Amino acid sequence: MCGIIGYIGKKNSLPIIIEGLKRLEYRGYDSAGVCVINGDKIIRQYKRAGKVNDMEKNINVDVFNGNIGIGHTRWATHGEPTDINAHPHFDMDNKIVIVHNGIIENYKVIKDKLAEDGYVFRTDTDTEILADLINYHYRRTKDFSLAVRLALIDVEGTYGIACLCADEPDKIIVARNGSPLLIGVGNEETYIASDAAAVINHTKNVVYLEDGEMAVITEKGFHLKTIEDKEIFRNVEVLDFFMGEIEKGGYEHFMLKEICEQADSIQNTYRGRINFETGIVKLGGLESVFDKMLNAKRFIITACGTAWHAALVGEYLIEQFCRIPVEVEYASEFRYRTPIIHKDDVVILISQSGETADTLAALREAKKHGATTIGIVNVIGSTIAREVEAGTYIHAGPEIGVASTKAFTSQVMSLSLITLMLAYEKSIMKQSTLVNVAKSLKLLPEKINKIVERKNEYKEIALKFKDARNFLYLGRGVNFPIALEGALKLKEISYIHAEGYPAAEMKHGPIALIDENMPVVFIAPKDKAYDKIISNIEEVRARKGKIITIANEDDTNINNYSDYVLRVPNETSLFAPILNVIPLQFLSYYIAVARNCDVDQPRNLAKSVTVE
Ligand code: F6R
Repeated sequence: MCGIIGYIGKKNSLPIIIEGLKRLEYRGYDSAGVCVINGDKIIRQYKRAGKVNDMEKNINVDVFNGNIGIGHTRWATHGEPTDINAHPHFDMDNKIVIVHNGIIENYKVIKDKLAEDGYVFRTDTDTEILADLINYHYRRTKDFSLAVRLALIDVEGTYGIACLCADEPDKIIVARNGSPLLIGVGNEETYIASDAAAVINHTKNVVYLEDGEMAVITEKGFHLKTIEDKEIFRNVEVLDFFMGEIEKGGYEHFMLKEICEQADSIQNTYRGRINFETGIVKLGGLESVFDKMLNAKRFIITACGTAWHAALVGEYLIEQFCRIPVEVEYASEFRYRTPIIHKDDVVILISQSGETADTLAALREAKKHGATTIGIVNVIGSTIAREVEAGTYIHAGPEIGVASTKAFTSQVMSLSLITLMLAYEKSIMKQSTLVNVAKSLKLLPEKINKIVERKNEYKEIALKFKDARNFLYLGRGVNFPIALEGALKLKEISYIHAEGYPAAEMKHGPIALIDENMPVVFIAPKDKAYDKIISNIEEVRARKGKIITIANEDDTNINNYSDYVLRVPNETSLFAPILNVIPLQFLSYYIAVARNCDVDQPRNLAKSVTVE
């Protein structure tokens, strides 16, 4: 979603801001803009719909030469993605300028009041209203920081903001409520950003703002307080990731890199958490709630999108191996259907970004009812990670491609580890079984690499389907969520309509869609559902659908039923879904590339959906 970057120091801010905006591109956006002050108390603004590259090509770098600046990538919520609606937004006097992530929910009320006071508006955005509200208070107080603070007291909704004032050109003011913001502390220079990726090549020393906080940023550092004006002292944290993790490293796209590095990301998820001799799993972050997990009457797993698919895999695993009832909920629905949540329920929130607004709202709802809350999160220090009672990081590393790949497999790995831990403690799984599972785990990275080595085979098959208009993905049992995930990946990045279904459910409707133009992907490993899946394949063949199967390396029988086979190594343990999904990631990737789609930044999508 929207991204913010800002700089104050001795250097020319424009190149820093443009570079920061490029590092924020992965979040998804439709327009970009920048404002710079260069000592003469005039704020220069350039903004336009389209990509940061277009902005960079057209901006007059001589005019935009100044050592204080803010920049923004916008993902439209209020108002179309046009030049005029792009951020930054000025107030009516062109004195104050603001970039904003989030939504001002009461902007209409504020707008009407400001209009009564003679304010006129140039854009359709809620952000311009906030700029004018700050102006309203600034006209009365002549104190920029106070004006921002007073304005924010009146605001309802979510925001991460950064603003400049022409009369006080030695500072940037930032504030946060529900939309991430951090301060990057340098040597005689200070950065602000909505995402660490935008500042990591300048400084690793950061301070995260909490909800309801604001800060006055100067080149010497920052002054942090609450919107209610209470002073805050917070230690600087050191970021623990490296530039290489947010660069393409020779790959054509981040998505391809992230698909290919899953042998590593998976190892990072389980490293230090399983004893390979005994098979016993320990997740340190869950120790404090371990007894509550063991005694829980029910787990509720809630998430959005791909993370929701991981939740469904978790449901199959935890119910099968731990015999704990599990309900999986879309986070966006959870809060609004007055859910029944008991104190002895364990609510698991899964989120790559740790900032998804709906998942965060579900977490707060669960806490309100006194349930135990557990996070399975990738981004360290993110809001969900901080607000849950306990949690386990997936440690997949920064995921830049908008379509989630390595985070999904690491989420499934985390759920598998939780399953093993509980199944053993509940004496449902014997230690001898655990030892065998641990042996399978040891071999998993090698098997993932074998899949990656086959990518050209998958590509060849993908190219045959680049002009397909529809796709169906079918799987049974734990591979049903894998079918859903395969379909989601395809529609997200190639814009081909795709649906995932439980294979047997096909007969109850989707079968009507099948003709010689319908590719149907079956997830058909040699597991207990294999014979049934073969019957479902026959049903599609009888109607001339094109059969693509995900099948095991030694399965020669499948050739008799398939037009095309995407091979995966044999895996009988609970880790099989992790392998089965990877060819589907490749399939969608190569189809999207063949269709000339913007794989890393698909249209309309955002990496982290921070609005409801
Ligand atoms: C799909 C995708 C999205 C996210 C969803 C939740 O490829 O990336 O569906 O999975 O927006 O995001 P997180 O996991 O950050 O809460």
